[in-house]
Amino acid sequence: MPSTTNHWSLPYPLADQRRHEVALAQAMQRVCVSGSYILGAEVEAFETEFAAFLGCKQVMGAASGTDAIELMLRAVNIGAGSKVAVPSFAPSAVAAGVARSGAEPVFVDIEPDTFTLCPEALDDLLSSFRGRGVKAAVVVHLFGHPADWASLQRVANEHGIELLEDCAQAHGALWHGRPVGTLGRAAAFSFYPTKNLAALGDAGAVVTNDAELAERVRVIRQYGWKQRYVSEQAGVNSRLDELQAAVLRVKLVALQESILQRRRLAAEYDARLVGSRVVTAPKVRGGCEHAYHQYVVRSERRDALMQHLQRAGIPVAALYPVPLHRQRAFGNGEDLLLESDRAAAAVLSLPMHPYLSEEAVGAVYEAMERFEP
Ligand SMILES: Cc1ncc(COP(=O)(O)O)c(C=O)c1O
Repeated sequence: MPSTTNHWSLPYPLADQRRHEVALAQAMQRVCVSGSYILGAEVEAFETEFAAFLGCKQVMGAASGTDAIELMLRAVNIGAGSKVAVPSFAPSAVAAGVARSGAEPVFVDIEPDTFTLCPEALDDLLSSFRGRGVKAAVVVHLFGHPADWASLQRVANEHGIELLEDCAQAHGALWHGRPVGTLGRAAAFSFYPTKNLAALGDAGAVVTNDAELAERVRVIRQYGWKQRYVSEQAGVNSRLDELQAAVLRVKLVALQESILQRRRLAAEYDARLVGSRVVTAPKVRGGCEHAYHQYVVRSERRDALMQHLQRAGIPVAALYPVPLHRQRAFGNGEDLLLESDRAAAAVLSLPMHPYLSEEAVGAVYEAMERFEP
């Protein structure tokens, strides 16, 4: 069997660190000697620079993407007694963030082609008994593909609910030329080390154009303080630290180029997978620019294919294997969410990050061609 080891020896977080090694060391040293480690000049500068990248007015660093979801919901006054609609086919962090706000996550099915929240399914939920008390939907731009924003907005307006974004996987994705994160009233980002914009630890942010909402996030993320040492409300401690902000500033400069490289690699996969007898390549909705956090194919024989590729040393994964409505923490499995169930059984994330070579993509393709369905 041909060896593919060399292509996979550097996982993305390490390859990303190596690419920026010198600048990262300098940035971290700058923080170390500054004497300021929490909510200082680096966080402020990162917030300004990330706002400029997105073209939005306000960015508030947080300790993680899960926290950012909680902060965003609490800042729009959603908490205990409310329900929040989320796609069932999504990482459990989404439901965890909702639950941490005090609200109850309610699960909605997805579109099979893009894996994002299905507007008709949201409409059905909001028109049904189960949808009573739903105050907001968290729209996840899963794998880096923008959700069908115009249709979702129409449904949200009809039912009078808030539409919020989860952009943890979609830094740099565009919906009709607009960056995701600027579509709804507020959005949550994660900078977990595997994300398109990756810290060297946990980090996240809430973004918005609404100055009052931004101020509420700033109050809640730091003990509910408006004035130092005086809490207006019971807040939390969820601050982006100076070291991570300094790291993110270094990597932000290269973000656009790295997303273009992800798109080039995706185009290489797409070209090879035309007419594949093994998998179905991902689709991109017209008007959308995918950020390819993941390149996700579907296969009727996913588990066997995954084992075959793993035996060949290729790092593939089934994201996400169990839909949220079937996870004991959040659901009872009784909801009928067929597309979420189907996706969970069929998806396979192929290797995708900006430091992969086109030869690596070719090696994945050839290994897939050797699979006997
Ligand atoms: C879609 C989505 N939402 C939320 C999160 C939570 O982010 P974090 O891991 O930074 O808490 C993640 C990342 O794991 C994610 O992929």
